[in-house]
Amino acid sequence: MRVFLGITGGSGAPYAARLLSAPAGAGCDVGVCASAAGIQVLATELYGDASLPRDEVLARFTEGAGDAATLYDPTDYGSPYASGSARVGGYVICPSSMATVGTIASGGEANLIHRAANVALKEDRKLVLVPRETPLSTIHLENLLRVRRAGAVVLFAAPGFYHGAERVGQLVDFIVGRCLDQLGVENTLVPEWGVS
Ligand SMILES: Cc1cc2nc3c(=O)[nH]c(=O)nc-3n(C[C@H](O)[C@H](O)[C@H](O)COP(=O)(O)O)c2cc1C
Repeated sequence: MRVFLGITGGSGAPYAARLLSAPAGAGCDVGVCASAAGIQVLATELYGDASLPRDEVLARFTEGAGDAATLYDPTDYGSPYASGSARVGGYVICPSSMATVGTIASGGEANLIHRAANVALKEDRKLVLVPRETPLSTIHLENLLRVRRAGAVVLFAAPGFYHGAERVGQLVDFIVGRCLDQLGVENTLVPEWGVS
């Protein structure tokens, strides 16, 4: 299964890292595209150095995924994710900045991430957006309603604590597992509540 992972400049880089490793481990081909702000957040939150160059950040980010990850530049409209003619199983944008949510809501396409999202919506394919912002303005809320009405799944980066998480990684897995469930990627990251 081919999956698109768009990484934009919202906080939550550990979610993105897990969203690469888990589907890659499940045999998916993951197309990865990060915005400039997405690179800044990966560099800051995963590697502790906001000034790391783009290539270095992406090399570190994908090093464990091997052949499962393919990198795309944000201006690469020759990528399969720029057209509905390429068969893609699902699209996830994580983290999704509110700026990217707003652009998708408006139908704008300033980079491959926006384009992939708009392709998913026009083709009636699964698009999962993982925003992280707080508090939310009325503009944010209206944009979220707009993308939801257009068919996107809005899966806020708001992990539940009811599974008794003791480590940050378990909270990360909570969100990533829910994303993978939406995309139809087999996983056991989140125990099913009430199922023993
Ligand atoms: C370290 C860092 C953390 C940020 N966190 C958020 C966030 O949680 N949510 C958000 O909507 N924007 C956040 N921003 C601001 C966005 O990155 C900014 O709006 C940017 O223009 C988004 O562009 P993009 O959507 O093309 O990645 C953050 C920026 C930085 C540098």
